[in-house]
Amino acid sequence: MNVDKIDRRAFIARLGGATALTTLSASTLADELEDELIRVASADTTPPKPRRRPRAEVRRGSGAIFDKKRVASLDELPKDPTLIDFFNYRFNVAGAGIHCLRSAHHALASGQDEIHVMAALLHDTVMSLMRADHGYWGADFVAPYVDERITWGIRHHQALRFFPDESVGYEYPELYRRMFGEDFDPEPYVHEAYEHARKHRWYMHSRMITVNDTYGFDEDVNPSIEDFTDIIGRNFRHPKEGLGNDNSPSAHMWRVLINPDRPL
Ligand SMILES: [Fe+2]
Ligand SMILES: [Fe+2]
Repeated sequence: MNVDKIDRRAFIARLGGATALTTLSASTLADELEDELIRVASADTTPPKPRRRPRAEVRRGSGAIFDKKRVASLDELPKDPTLIDFFNYRFNVAGAGIHCLRSAHHALASGQDEIHVMAALLHDTVMSLMRADHGYWGADFVAPYVDERITWGIRHHQALRFFPDESVGYEYPELYRRMFGEDFDPEPYVHEAYEHARKHRWYMHSRMITVNDTYGFDEDVNPSIEDFTDIIGRNFRHPKEGLGNDNSPSAHMWRVLINPDRPL
């Protein structure tokens, strides 16, 4: 992760000044920081290039796709869109796509099981739609289409990123300390989610997402979604009608990404 490109003073100013550090929750600050890293690390690779201007005056929870200063125009998706179409036409444009591709590239290159590669590929895609509590939204987003362990892992990675695990080389992000101070501490529900996940038999399905996450900002690596076509084919149950058209429990989320301008 190239943290040197993050200007602490400018970042804090964008959040609303020093008071933001006391008024915003730890999770919100961490989400804002992850989004900032994604934005900086994707600026040179995502078509069309996002313009580096101050954020629009929108509530912080909303995803990048709603910010017209950041994503000025959107192309139409095919009528029966696939996950690959969503990467090409939405996730990559909004920024989170290349971060997920880089994470998945690391999982693949380091010989991890396909289920971890797939989890890395999907783990932050929902940030195009919603940033606040993105682990929970992200799990709901993909649940109808993937192995339950992937959904579970995505839900809990939001909490696990705050807690180190030396057994897999995951350290507490020094960047949190640097940006937010020594006494930075996530909310009680994050601690509870961590305690629950730590004891769960699927713990590693979430932990490996946080490990692969740290490789998701490597600007020297620029994989394409087409590199993962076979893995997606084996690990993602595409609805024949296309994502958003299948009346699954999360179809509405995919529909909003297809047309984020719908008024109701
Ligand atoms: Fe994340
Ligand atoms: Fe991430």
